Amino acid sequence: KKVVLAYSGGLDTSVIAKWLQTEYNCEVVTFTADLGQGEEVEPARAKAEALGIKEIYIDDLREEFARDFVFPMFRANTIYEGEYLLGTSIARPLISKRLIEIANETGADAIAHGATGKGNDQVRFELGAYALKPGVKVIAPWREWDLNSREKLMAYCDEHNIKVENKAGKKSPYSMDANLLHISYEGDLIEDPWAEPEEDMWLWSVSPENAPDEATYLNITFKNGDAVALDGVEKSPATIMEELNKLAGANGIGRVDIVENRYVGMKARGCYETPAGTVLLKAHRAIESITLDREAAHLKDELMPKYASLIYNGYWWSPERQMLQAAIDETQKVVNGEVRLKLYKGNVIVVGRQSEDSLFDEAIATFEDDAGAYDQKDAEGFIKLNALRLRTAAKKGRSPLK
Ligand code: ARG
Ligand code: SIN
Repeated sequence: KKVVLAYSGGLDTSVIAKWLQTEYNCEVVTFTADLGQGEEVEPARAKAEALGIKEIYIDDLREEFARDFVFPMFRANTIYEGEYLLGTSIARPLISKRLIEIANETGADAIAHGATGKGNDQVRFELGAYALKPGVKVIAPWREWDLNSREKLMAYCDEHNIKVENKAGKKSPYSMDANLLHISYEGDLIEDPWAEPEEDMWLWSVSPENAPDEATYLNITFKNGDAVALDGVEKSPATIMEELNKLAGANGIGRVDIVENRYVGMKARGCYETPAGTVLLKAHRAIESITLDREAAHLKDELMPKYASLIYNGYWWSPERQMLQAAIDETQKVVNGEVRLKLYKGNVIVVGRQSEDSLFDEAIATFEDDAGAYDQKDAEGFIKLNALRLRTAAKKGRSPLK
C-alpha cells in the first residue's frame, strides 16, 4: 500500500502525511512542486524526512507550468466569470499529472491531497488523476477525518510529535495559494463580501494610490500567440512571468476582488493578484486585433467562456478541452508581432501594435483619399441586401414602429 501525497510542507499536509501512515497504514511518497510560489521548496525535504518519509520528490516545474499550461490558456484570452484569470485552476492539472507520474514510477496505487471537501481543488486534482490513471485510488483526508479545526490539528501535532514552526511575525489568516500566475486569498476577514480587504493582505502589488507617478513603458513580442520577448530581449515563459509580475505589481496592476461560483455550487469571495497575467492578456488582445481575421476572432471569443469553465471546473485533461485547444492554437499561427504598453497606477494601456502579419491596411482605413483602395459605392448594395429581410418584414406590418 503506497500513496503519493501533494505535499506543501505546511501544517495541513504534514498532518496528512502522518495521518496516512497511521490511519491507512500505508507508505507515503511526498511530492512538492516549485510552481513559482516564491517560497523555497527545498525545506519540504527535511520536514518530510522528519515525518519518516523515504521517497521524497521535489520538482521545479516553473517552465513547464508557464509553457504548457499558462501560455496555452492565454492564447484563448481566458477569463472566468469576467474577472478571474484562473491562477489556481490552471496549476492543478499539472500537479495531478506529476502525482500520477510519480505513482507510476514508485508503484503507488493511490494519491492524496489536502483540498477540502467544499472547494474546486478536490475536483480538479481528482478529475485529473482519474483521466490519467483510471484505476487510481484517491484519499482526501479533509472529507474523512474529524480534524476540522485548527485546534484539533494542533492537538494532533502534539500527539504525534509533528514539529510546527513558530514563524516569527504574524501568519496571514487567509487561505492562500500562489504560483507564477497568481496569489489568491480566501476566507477569514474577507469571508464577508462587503468587507474591504485590508491593505496588508495584498502581497504582490502596491495599491494604485501608492504606485509611481511616472508611467512604465514596455514592449512585448509575440510569436504564435505566446509572449517571447520583453523590450526586444528573448526570455523563457517562466522568466517572462516573473519579470512582468515585478513590473506590473510595482505599478499596482492585477488586483481582483470577486464573488465567484464554485463548481460544487456555492458562491465564494476571493481576492487575487495576477500582475503578469493582466498585462499579457491586454497585450495578447492587442496583437490579435491586427493579426486575426474578424470572424475567427469573434468565434474565439464565443468559445472562450466555455473553455474557461472547463479549466475552472477541472476538465483540463478532457477531450473537449483538447479539441478547443486545437482550434485556438490553429488561429495563433499568425499572431506574431509587437505590442507597446504603458503601465500606470493600476492600468495597462496599449499605446502601439505592429506585425508582419498585420491585416490592418492604412490605405483602406484612411479618412483621407484612399486612391481607389475602397469603393464607397459598394457599401450601398451591401447595406441594401442586408436590409432586405428587415424591409420585407416591415412591409408585412412588422415594423417595430407602430
Ligand atoms: N477560488 C479559486 C479557484 O477555485 C482559488 C482557490 C484557491 N485554493 C486554495 N487551495 N487556496 O481557483
Ligand atoms: C479548498 O477547498 O481546499 C480550497 C478552495 C477551493 O478548492 O475552491
